[in-house]
Amino acid sequence: MRLTDLVLGLVSTAFAVESRSVRRQYPNDTLGTLPYELKTGPLDTEWTSKVGTSPWPEYPRPQLARSEWKNLNGVWQYSNTTWEERDNPPFGRDLDKSVLVPFCLESALSGIMGSNAYYSWYRTSFDVDFSWIASDKRVLLNFGAVDYEANVYVNGKAAGNNTGGYFHFSVDVTDLLNTNGTNELILYIHDPTNTQYSNIPLGKQRLNPDHINYTPCSGIWQTVWLESAGREYITQLDVDANMDGKVNVTVHTSPNAVNSSGTFEITIFEPNSTDIKVQKTGSINQPFTFEVDSPNLWSPESPTLYDISVQFGSDSVKSYTGFRTISKGEVDGVVRPLLNGKFVFLFGPLDQGFWPDGLHSPPSVEAMEYDLHVLKDVGFNMVRKHIKIEPGLFYKACDTLGLLVVQDMPSMPTYWYPSNPPGWPSERGKPYYINSTQQEVFEHELARMIEQLKSHPSIVTWVIYNEGWGQNIDDIGTDWRLTDLVRSLDPTRLVDSVTGWNDHGAGDYSDNHHYSGALCGTPFWSGLAYDEKRIAFQGEFGGIGLNASIENLWKVDQAIAQINSTYELTKNTNTWNYRTHNLLAELAAQTKDFACSGAVYTQTTDVEGEVNGLLTYDRRVNRMDITQWKDDIRAIFDAAHSRAVTKETRNIKGLDEEVRMVGL
Ligand SMILES: *[C@@H]1O[C@H](CO)[C@@H](O)[C@H](O)[C@H]1NC(C)=O
Ligand SMILES: *[C@@H]1O[C@H](CO)[C@@H](O)[C@H](O)[C@H]1NC(C)=O
Ligand SMILES: *[C@@H]1O[C@H](CO)[C@@H](O)[C@H](O)[C@H]1NC(C)=O
Ligand SMILES: *[C@@H]1O[C@H](CO)[C@@H](O)[C@H](O)[C@H]1NC(C)=O
Ligand SMILES: *[C@@H]1O[C@H](CO)[C@@H](O)[C@H](O)[C@H]1NC(C)=O
Ligand SMILES: *[C@@H]1O[C@H](CO)[C@@H](O)[C@H](O)[C@H]1NC(C)=O
Ligand SMILES: *[C@@H]1O[C@H](CO)[C@@H](O)[C@H](O)[C@H]1NC(C)=O
Ligand SMILES: *[C@@H]1O[C@H](CO)[C@@H](O)[C@H](O)[C@H]1NC(C)=O
Ligand SMILES: *[C@@H]1O[C@H](CO)[C@@H](O)[C@H](O)[C@H]1NC(C)=O
Ligand SMILES: *[C@@H]1O[C@H](CO)[C@@H](O)[C@H](O)[C@H]1NC(C)=O
Repeated sequence: MRLTDLVLGLVSTAFAVESRSVRRQYPNDTLGTLPYELKTGPLDTEWTSKVGTSPWPEYPRPQLARSEWKNLNGVWQYSNTTWEERDNPPFGRDLDKSVLVPFCLESALSGIMGSNAYYSWYRTSFDVDFSWIASDKRVLLNFGAVDYEANVYVNGKAAGNNTGGYFHFSVDVTDLLNTNGTNELILYIHDPTNTQYSNIPLGKQRLNPDHINYTPCSGIWQTVWLESAGREYITQLDVDANMDGKVNVTVHTSPNAVNSSGTFEITIFEPNSTDIKVQKTGSINQPFTFEVDSPNLWSPESPTLYDISVQFGSDSVKSYTGFRTISKGEVDGVVRPLLNGKFVFLFGPLDQGFWPDGLHSPPSVEAMEYDLHVLKDVGFNMVRKHIKIEPGLFYKACDTLGLLVVQDMPSMPTYWYPSNPPGWPSERGKPYYINSTQQEVFEHELARMIEQLKSHPSIVTWVIYNEGWGQNIDDIGTDWRLTDLVRSLDPTRLVDSVTGWNDHGAGDYSDNHHYSGALCGTPFWSGLAYDEKRIAFQGEFGGIGLNASIENLWKVDQAIAQINSTYELTKNTNTWNYRTHNLLAELAAQTKDFACSGAVYTQTTDVEGEVNGLLTYDRRVNRMDITQWKDDIRAIFDAAHSRAVTKETRNIKGLDEEVRMVGL
């Protein structure tokens, strides 16, 4: 221990005692004097009023969890600002409004419910437990997600920044902390959404929502937290565990961990137990592989997870994994997705992840898990997470419940002439695609999505482009190049390069969108015929609408006026169930007779003016005749099973052309 540490340790011990009785405040801190007020939005949920002022109390990053942490969610100060003010942070100054973190500024739960939230200040204060800074450790300030660009200031100094609205990031603030009391945290946030000069990955967010695009989300929309890490610490844990018991782990460490020959110790526990299954020592910052004897495999029917702990120097983190292998193979002459060497038919809904009260942020983890339970209970085995990236706890819920995830990259918008900004190259009737800088941003964020999510056992497939949005159709080589990029970052998943519209042959799937009825791997088609060399997949179908009662509708005139843009509207719940039964039966028939390997029903919930959900937007009405839907879904899986009456499966993924003989 260095002398300064000792001094700091003594001071902090004295302070720690004192701090129990004295509530220290930042000198000019009047946080809390402006009361937070939940706004009355166009629609609420059963969870809205239960959110309170300490939302999302759960530890938010389940695959890199530290035990010493502190949640910073709650009421912060907020002010709308401008680009010109960006270099003039309001150090020591109160801001004029209160916002509930982590709910985006456009949401009712934020207490702001503003629009055009392009430039914002956020301000709060926080205490740090002195034991965290006394003992030669680091203090990390973590953000689950901030849309879109954030500059972070701690105690009047620039601490770090991030660009990308869907990604977690961490700032080592140790050297900026005050040792004499509370610390001031300020963020400058810029979110252009789809203003004319910008083209960023943003999924379904639009400044002017229309039928299929929704209210945008700006600012902090996932948990903010502090944690105490070791002096040299783990920044990321990549874990892949497969059906043969092989574990491949990379422990990424902080830049100050200069000892590249450093080692870590990994422990894998027996399921639901503290008994050690295996313990190994490996080298940091490079893949380390070892084997585990006959693990229980992970599958939707039996989603066994194994807890993990990793020790690196004085840093220790917890995580988990599931043993499974995703590949593709020929089963009875048809190319199929395989899970643990067997054909798995992928059936799930299009899952937008929008909420009437929190927009991008579910009101609570219970609310978020509610949707997933509804899907699992009716018999789906998959969700297609649609052009949005969710909090880590969403994927943990899928890992735990056994719901496979088809994960979309959030799209950039496609601008159609004549709505292109003046001066942008375009031809009438032809979409303008992104310029080279914007293309780089898309690729950078695509890579970040994969790095962030790739250790979740439930993810089976990455989707690059949805329906041509932001797709460079002038250079179709881009599809192939990005497919290679995805495979190089994650060789353990399948790639659906293009879901719907402009398919040029890249990737593992031949993916068609067709409303209302499916055309999945059929020898008849409208649009593109399916490519027998790839997996036949129905990336979207369904979308049968049923208007909701006014109390379950998003009460915005523009949204209500566009309800009649729904592909197909039914008059009542019986008719909705009649039509959805027709569509599911048709999909079962196509699956039984042709080459269909999976499908995505549009969609989990209504969203704003879209009234085609299994559930209404507020989740208060479930339109499904549950018995009928369970039977219909069961029939689709039975059809898949009967179509692939196998003898043999030839694994065709990977360079080694490995041949497996697996009975179904
Ligand atoms: C902080 O408060 C002190 C005393 O109330 C005041 O003199 C000072 O101007 C304030 N500082 C800022 C930056 O507002
Ligand atoms: C911020 O200010 C701009 C310019 O006055 C305004 O258009 C916008 O609606 C404001 N946004 C919020 C969230 O208050
Ligand atoms: C963001 O951080 C990088 C690297 O830490 C730094 O070089 C850059 O100046 C920062 N940008 C802003 C706007 O603070
Ligand atoms: C705490 O320490 C910081 C950094 O040394 C200093 O700038 C600040 O004025 C001090 N605050 C108080 C309340 O003493
Ligand atoms: C692409 O467009 C953006 C926004 O207009 C601009 O900032 C950037 O410089 C452009 N890049 C190229 C290579 O033209
Ligand atoms: C382990 O994972 C890394 C990173 O994904 C990959 O490059 C490497 O090939 C894998 N090793 C084995 C033996 O699978
Ligand atoms: C680097 O790590 C190795 C293995 O843990 C250890 O033996 C060695 O002492 C370390 N070197 C330094 C300079 O810390
Ligand atoms: C672990 O616990 C869960 C929940 O109680 C249970 O469903 C599962 O079967 C258990 N797994 C094993 C391998 O014991
Ligand atoms: C949809 O409704 C709007 C007003 O509610 C009406 O103007 C429009 O003509 C309707 N469109 C169709 C296709 O019915
Ligand atoms: C849907 O219901 C709302 C609320 O009753 C009503 O205002 C709207 O006109 C209806 N739209 C259609 C297309 O039925």
